[in-house]
Amino acid sequence: MSDTLEPMLDLARRALANAHAPYSRFRVGACIRAESGRLYVGCNVENAAYPVGQCAEASAIGAMVAAGDRKIVETVIVSEGAEPCPPCGRCRQQLAEFGGPDTRVHIGGPEGVRITTTLGELLPMAFGPDTLGQAR
Ligand code: THU
Repeated sequence: MSDTLEPMLDLARRALANAHAPYSRFRVGACIRAESGRLYVGCNVENAAYPVGQCAEASAIGAMVAAGDRKIVETVIVSEGAEPCPPCGRCRQQLAEFGGPDTRVHIGGPEGVRITTTLGELLPMAFGPDTLGQAR
């Protein structure tokens, strides 16, 4: 477990508190640690036009890319439900764009981390730049 896990959890919880989820009432917070060591947070941002909503992970990835980072080392995702919130399929693909099979993904709730897994486990046989014949 990395030294940054607690601060990441704290940041993800704070992002969750700012989630805009009036329709699902399911708030999610995410924190990404990039290779530079910088941390990026995101929350879900829903919309009255339901399909336009954005996941917490996508928000954090957008912040990371806008700041110039491109490599995800570790991610924390928190929700408040009884069940852990594994990243949705779209988020798995988006995380895989900037992470690798060994990138750690911690899934937690208000009390802390519940499951630690990897992108390789979450998205086996991923479609990526190599599929397109392009180097990462
Ligand atoms: N949600 C996320 O933010 N991340 C996920 O990986 C799964 C789902 C959000 C989207 C929507 O605002 C709410 O949770 C209910 O689906």
